[in-house]
Amino acid sequence: MAPVKVIAIANQKGGVGKTTTAVNLSAAIAARGKRVLLIDMDSQANASAALGIEATCEQSLYPALIGERLMEELVMPTHRRNLSLIPAHMDLSGVEVELTNSGTHLTCMRDAMAGLRKSGFYDYVFLDTPPSLGVLMTSSLCACDEVLTPMQCEFLSLDGLSKILYIMEQIQESGSNPNLVHEGVLMTMYNNTNLANQVISQVRENLPDKLYETIIPRSVRVAEAPSFGKTVMEHDPYGTASLAYQNAAKEFLRRHTR
Ligand SMILES: Nc1ncnc2c1ncn2[C@@H]1O[C@H](COP(=O)(O)OP(=O)(O)O)[C@@H](O)[C@H]1O
Ligand SMILES: [Mg+2]
Repeated sequence: MAPVKVIAIANQKGGVGKTTTAVNLSAAIAARGKRVLLIDMDSQANASAALGIEATCEQSLYPALIGERLMEELVMPTHRRNLSLIPAHMDLSGVEVELTNSGTHLTCMRDAMAGLRKSGFYDYVFLDTPPSLGVLMTSSLCACDEVLTPMQCEFLSLDGLSKILYIMEQIQESGSNPNLVHEGVLMTMYNNTNLANQVISQVRENLPDKLYETIIPRSVRVAEAPSFGKTVMEHDPYGTASLAYQNAAKEFLRRHTR
């Protein structure tokens, strides 16, 4: 049995498509027969809402991070085959206050996930991380095996990319997660402009084997889908963005079976 792979969807910039990618990539990989768990690490709970799930504080990750509950008890079905969710709730923001100066601020997520890892039930666990560099983000980077960075096709995104790479390097070097791997960069919200194409070329030049061939186009269907509690594949199955996320899932699985 292959061990579970934990992938943090991370970029400390907000609004770059992290949640959209976490939800749609998880769903597309689950639809291809892999057992997937999505953990919503953002107190805004956008990923939970996008799957049509409204969490209560009883069901949120928070008690697991402070060692009061087992993460396994918080898993909810999404009513989609192979896809489960640990939802977030506003109370999760309390972690930032309570754990920042505690000795467990880097390890809380890894410790909380120990049982899930041991059970070996899931093929992939995706973490939808928040934008700020607080406890929820850094503890995710310490708990995961790999980081996948969604990136908007904009000039300032390059700056954001070097920042996340720098943070990862710090985490590797501190010994908190020495084997952390940068899995890749997925370009999102693409529109065919000179600027977007230049940004993509630059990423390809600097990180040739990291850039996903699949590029997620900008599409109003993607933005609409969460308001129906649906993935883009459910909302607009044959649209360009739906096909792109399905291609990204295929590419992800190819990259993980080499
Ligand atoms: N491919 C896309 N096309 C159009 N809108 C998108 C696309 N990807 C994301 N969005 C929208 O952009 C906004 C930010 O995306 P989101 O995934 O929430 O980013 P993050 O989690 O990084 O903050 C959301 O309103 C989302 O619906
Ligand atoms: Mg988000």
